[in-house]
Amino acid sequence: MTHAAYPALRLRRTRASAWSRDLYRETVLTPSDLIWPLFVTDGMSAREPVGSLPGVERLSVDLLGEAARRARDLGIPCLALFPNTPRELRTDDGREALNPDNLMCRAIKSIKDAAPDIGVLTDVALDPYTAHGHDGLVDEHGYVLNDATMEVLVGQALVQAEAGADIVAPSDMMDGRVGRIRQALEQAGRINVQIMAYSAKYASAFYGPFRDAVGSGGLLKGDKKTYQMDPANAEEALREVALDLAEGADSVMVKPGLPYLDIIRLVKQRFEVPVFAYQVSGEYAMIEAAVAAGVLDRDAAILETLTAFKRAGCSGVLSYHAPRAAELMG
Ligand code: PBG
Repeated sequence: MTHAAYPALRLRRTRASAWSRDLYRETVLTPSDLIWPLFVTDGMSAREPVGSLPGVERLSVDLLGEAARRARDLGIPCLALFPNTPRELRTDDGREALNPDNLMCRAIKSIKDAAPDIGVLTDVALDPYTAHGHDGLVDEHGYVLNDATMEVLVGQALVQAEAGADIVAPSDMMDGRVGRIRQALEQAGRINVQIMAYSAKYASAFYGPFRDAVGSGGLLKGDKKTYQMDPANAEEALREVALDLAEGADSVMVKPGLPYLDIIRLVKQRFEVPVFAYQVSGEYAMIEAAVAAGVLDRDAAILETLTAFKRAGCSGVLSYHAPRAAELMG
């Protein structure tokens, strides 16, 4: 292929006016690309600011309907729910995850009542329910047990699906859990419940504020490096994705987001399946800290980062900035 050279070719020509930039734009971000994560707390009419996530609040179940209607009005198609389980219900075996009337299940139902057309995504992992803050069951050495944990996760996913979850999203990184959850959903007749696998989930420094928000941070013993991935690895991410797809995942996720755009691109090119990114709590907090320091324009930073995910190949993005982003596009 031959191209003209300067001066016959001037790449600035198509950038010279707004209509032309609109016409030549390769990637278009819309509110329908967004999934809005919400933190849920016990109680009534409770709005609890999360210190490490300025602008983000935990909401009690009775306030979720309002948030769901706001999402619908903004054109955001899906909400992701994360419960801050009361401390006294957290146990070593995380059994509250299996309670059909737990905070998560009540949250799902209230959203479905208020806005039945909004999708609800739920996290499948035990960290909001365990007294040690890990995503699974631990042995006497603190090692997170794969197969024993999986049994609980299957039950947790079913309880969420029965409550009305549209997408269950295993974020635990146990081997084999997508296949077992898929099989259990089939047997329960929940054939249209999607699985969005947190396939490439890295042991990241960027989850700190989230752990504050769900109350697991102060409880966590050690780190999650025996189950979450090493940030140095890319090939291994492709193996994780291949397994989850073979086991029946409908879509896969890469997490965190911006530091892992290369992984998103690799996964998209290799597998040609829907890929989602999670712009995680630490990424949100970094933008907000920079805005507070007067060094970044918030709205421009939000739209630029979200557009970058789409350019890299994402079908959609989980972002705490979702409502602001949708307002800006509206
Ligand atoms: C837990 C889970 C985490 C996040 C989503 N699900 C934290 C962790 O793995 O410790 C992080 C999201 C964020 O930081 O915004 N299974």
